[in-house]
Amino acid sequence: MRIQVMMHAMQTRGKVGVENTSLWGCLSRVEDQSTGKPLSGDLLQAEVAGIILGGLDTTAQTCAFTLALLAAHPEKADTLAAELDNAGLLAKPERPQPRGMVYSDLPTLTYLDGVLRESLRMFPVAATGLSRCTDEDCVLGGYHIPAGTEVQVPIYTIHMLTFKAPESFLPERWANKAEESQANEQDNTAFKAAPTTAQQSINQSTETGFTTHGTSLDQTELAQAFIPFSSGPRDCLGQRLAMMEAATIIGTLLGRFTVHLASRMGGYEGVTERQTVAFTLAVDDGLWMRFTPRNGWTP
Ligand code: HEM
Repeated sequence: MRIQVMMHAMQTRGKVGVENTSLWGCLSRVEDQSTGKPLSGDLLQAEVAGIILGGLDTTAQTCAFTLALLAAHPEKADTLAAELDNAGLLAKPERPQPRGMVYSDLPTLTYLDGVLRESLRMFPVAATGLSRCTDEDCVLGGYHIPAGTEVQVPIYTIHMLTFKAPESFLPERWANKAEESQANEQDNTAFKAAPTTAQQSINQSTETGFTTHGTSLDQTELAQAFIPFSSGPRDCLGQRLAMMEAATIIGTLLGRFTVHLASRMGGYEGVTERQTVAFTLAVDDGLWMRFTPRNGWTP
């Protein structure tokens, strides 16, 4: 329904000139290769759904789960607040109005990056993964898979089975990963590159002072197991945008509010018990939270 409303609004705007680089401008100029005509009907609907819905619910639910994790782990929220404070992004009596986040803040906020990765590891919102159909016979993990078989890659299950202490919220396990992200700033492989030597050697403590509880990542985990955006040539087109959006939203909110789960949630256990897959991973009946302004912050 939502898609149809969006499609109608977009179609009534008609075709736009090449100078229009909005999402609709670009979509309205895409041609169906078999007919040479603009996309219409199911094809256009699939593109609109893929880009708009795939980009909205996913990022929104990721932010919601991240806030729930921070509310349930106040000591991690405090570590994040300290990082935001260092960057001038936290409301406090001598700085009641912190500055707004800018693009160049993102690579410096390494704990925030770890919080988001850990949230995507524990609650990968594309939980069931997308399916693929084999076009030829193949052998995977010793199993013969005939051509024409639909294969599903269960992202949530892979994350839970592969990582150490999978149900523990440990942003610290990504401590040195952030350095690598900076090095790969211009490179869209930031989430899949092999770990640095320094990263392989971290275990109990790191230069950043975070304790990893023996859960630091090894090469296999980094290269293969963390796949919230899937993997391969058809992985998520919007993954870097998603990470930027989520970091900006969470950094801005945590800089101004402390967050708590509403009592009706029944604590963090209530959140995990009510996980459900509704297009994306979500919490049945919603995620209800209380936001308290920090140090008297007002809009
Ligand atoms: C936390 C947020 C997000 C998550 C977890 C996520 C996850 C995924 C996953 C798992 C896929 C399937 C890839 C596959 O089939 O192998 C996908 C595809 C896709 N995503 Fe995202 N996504 C997110 C945000 C976004 C955003 C913000 C956009 C765009 C604005 C976006 C656009 C797309 C598109 C266009 C595809 C299809 C790519 C293709 O078929 O070639 N996603 N996403």
